[in-house]
Amino acid sequence: MQWTDFFETLADLEPDEEFVTGRPGGLPPGLADGIADDIAVKLGLKSVDALLDYGSGTGAITRRLAKRVATTTAADASKSVVRRGGGADSGNIRWVQLSSGAADPPWAGGSFTKVLSYYNAQTFATHSDLRVHIDSLCAAVAPGGTVLLGDVPDREHTGQWESGERGRDENRTVWIGRLERRALDMERDARDLAAFANRLKGLGIEAPPGFGERHPGFIRDVVTRLFRENGGETTVSTQPLHFPNAHTCVDYIVRFGR
Ligand SMILES: C[S@@+](CC[C@H](N)C(=O)[O-])C[C@H]1O[C@@H](n2cnc3c(N)ncnc32)[C@H](O)[C@@H]1O
Repeated sequence: MQWTDFFETLADLEPDEEFVTGRPGGLPPGLADGIADDIAVKLGLKSVDALLDYGSGTGAITRRLAKRVATTTAADASKSVVRRGGGADSGNIRWVQLSSGAADPPWAGGSFTKVLSYYNAQTFATHSDLRVHIDSLCAAVAPGGTVLLGDVPDREHTGQWESGERGRDENRTVWIGRLERRALDMERDARDLAAFANRLKGLGIEAPPGFGERHPGFIRDVVTRLFRENGGETTVSTQPLHFPNAHTCVDYIVRFGR
């Protein structure tokens, strides 16, 4: 089963909203609030903003962000995800199904002041796949706007995490904090993954290729260059330590000139 079909089937069969996001440990309300707060700060959300959440899932995070901006569009490649998300919201979010994946957004010229893509990167295996996605995000953002490509597997972090080495540009306190959490997080990840795999089995859902394997991650310099080629200036930011993938993922905050 491919990833888009996986989310389609999950949205059709999984009764618990928390697991339709694809997070093995679910997305409890407290965590969704925390993630939404972090995104709002990193994107610098304002009440006048037009927000696009690209790869929104059924909108647990989108709905929290929608309260802080003027207009919100949620876009996802999966039809069932969009149907389920649209059915659950109070009508103030525009829902769009991306008919041909990330390559061809249905809007022309960038009209969104803020564009978010969060926890979508499991579907991109290579930097070439990621380039297509990044080009779409950049096509959607308005001059002077900001893109947040968040919760992205990071090659540097993954290697450091596995080897237990100290990070190149981490400060000592942050890195020691990460090391202390390492054993704890690995245990939790293995437990969550096993429980999620069982859940899928119970629903008769086949896991997509690479499910449960650690993503090799993307190279920061390459991702930054892909944004630069589109006119964006990138800051790479680590995730708050209590987020599920903080040990292997980073956020890219990308600002565009007017
Ligand atoms: C893991 S979920 C994350 C949802 C949400 N952003 C969150 O953080 O909870 C990934 C979602 O991205 C969608 N998706 C995957 N590949 C996509 C693509 N190329 N373009 C748009 N959406 C995509 C899937 O259908 C799925 O709903």
